[in-house]
Amino acid sequence: MARKKLIAGNWKMNGLLADGTELAKNVAAGVKALGKPQCEFLVCPPFTLLQAVKKALRGAKVALGAQDCHFAEKGAHTGDISPLMLKDLGCGYVILGHSERRADHGESNELVCKKAEAAHKAGLKTVICIGETLAQREAGKAVDVCREQILGSVPTDSTASDTVIAYEPVWAIGTGKVPTTADVEEVHAAVRKVLAKKLGKGNANKMRILYGGSVKPGNAKELLNLPDVDGALIGGASLKAEDFLGIAKNAGCC
Ligand code: PGA
Repeated sequence: MARKKLIAGNWKMNGLLADGTELAKNVAAGVKALGKPQCEFLVCPPFTLLQAVKKALRGAKVALGAQDCHFAEKGAHTGDISPLMLKDLGCGYVILGHSERRADHGESNELVCKKAEAAHKAGLKTVICIGETLAQREAGKAVDVCREQILGSVPTDSTASDTVIAYEPVWAIGTGKVPTTADVEEVHAAVRKVLAKKLGKGNANKMRILYGGSVKPGNAKELLNLPDVDGALIGGASLKAEDFLGIAKNAGCC
């Protein structure tokens, strides 16, 4: 079964009301201009821009996502945002377990899993991030680390319709460095095998595994056409509509 590529933008902590809205409008116009693209699109702005971006995307086939959520539906969790709140704002997706959250906020696999269960329960799709550090890659442990993260962070009842995996080597994020295509292929194939063991072959074959880490229009063609690569999670280059759409075009979305 052919998996439809997902081109996802992770805006991280970027964008004020004016430029964030402008960016969303440009993405919406660009996606509309593609006609009937063969990929799906997603943008994940900071919480503060969700409502404005939702409005700016109206009429364009671009899904809206957040970059994190709490596992509780509501309650005494100062500063946190629940999956229900995201759903209420029109989000379809939430990114979970990004390496920046794992590093800056000490998020464990267990916590990511709890958040993912809550997000699925609220009707959100999750983009669950995994990936090794440079030291782990140099120690030859990239696949082992990813296996452990999948086993620990992905809920056991996840399906291809509610879960997307994003493989993002930590050392490739925002650095301009990318793994070789052989390395990307190796990890993605291994991830699919682990998913098959955990969730069954049917789910694993249908589940999208994105690559993330310094994806640019210039490397999109070679990275995003590898057999087990089903799209991209894009940070820096998603902040320019032209680059975001350039990646989609070079990935073969139209
Ligand atoms: P980058 O970030 O494209 O800026 O490397 C990717 C990510 O962290 O999702």
